[in-house]
Amino acid sequence: MLALTLFARIGASVGTAIAPEHRRGARPRWLRSKNWDEHVDDLEEMAGTPGFHALRDRILALARLNASDRLLDVGAGTGLLALAAAPQVAHVSALDMSPAMCRHLELKFNRLGIGNVDVFVNTATALPLADGSVDVVLSNYCFHHLGDSEKGRALAEVRRVLRPGGRFVFGDMMFRISIANQRDRAVIVLLARRMLRHGPAGVLRLLKNATRIVTGRWEHPSSVGWWHNALVQAGFTEVAVQALDHEGGIAFARRPA
Ligand SMILES: C[S@@+](CC[C@H](N)C(=O)[O-])C[C@H]1O[C@@H](n2cnc3c(N)ncnc32)[C@H](O)[C@@H]1O
Repeated sequence: MLALTLFARIGASVGTAIAPEHRRGARPRWLRSKNWDEHVDDLEEMAGTPGFHALRDRILALARLNASDRLLDVGAGTGLLALAAAPQVAHVSALDMSPAMCRHLELKFNRLGIGNVDVFVNTATALPLADGSVDVVLSNYCFHHLGDSEKGRALAEVRRVLRPGGRFVFGDMMFRISIANQRDRAVIVLLARRMLRHGPAGVLRLLKNATRIVTGRWEHPSSVGWWHNALVQAGFTEVAVQALDHEGGIAFARRPA
């Protein structure tokens, strides 16, 4: 599957004499939807930060992994969660919609001699696994790339593939672009300050992001309250969603036994 997808992509680019971004009238790169295939190195860097390591550790602690667990990592990227979980469980399915990310991750698993893993190029909204076939589903910073209705489809899929009693733990950006709520306002100020620390480049990034938000092309983070309701509505129990002291939050839920 991975090989086929990559072949199709290579074929498409061979037939393209002018890169799409250089064609007259093409949207500038920063105004297009993010193509994760172009961001493997950026994600490696982000996954190596203390902030992402702290998220990983909190997610794994909440998941209370067992040696017999079959685990799914949704939006696995460069393997922040899957690599740490694999030695602790029976099997890991690592899924990501980006073929380049998956190829990179597969090479990493091979290099490290980790054999209890399958990597799938797939979307979170149509999981390629059988009903009730996993004990635990993990995810980190993937769901804010999905619109609200896609998030709903992804939750239904997670519930479907979990066995009764199975655990679902994920971290994500959890706030709304809104000034009505105090936490949302604080997070927006925090993110803006973080960008402005980078001087003129940061100002430019802030302006680009503001343009993306206004034109509906930015990411789609949802609030802690939104996630709580969505998890309950999707039929999960023991739902607990917690805001962290930055833009992120962590959720725990269980498929009813
Ligand atoms: C910010 S990265 C996080 C990766 C990894 N979980 C981590 O914590 O380092 C988001 C990842 O989600 C993937 N992704 C985005 N939308 C997706 C979707 N609809 N289905 C599956 N993966 C998706 C991207 O390709 C990317 O690898």
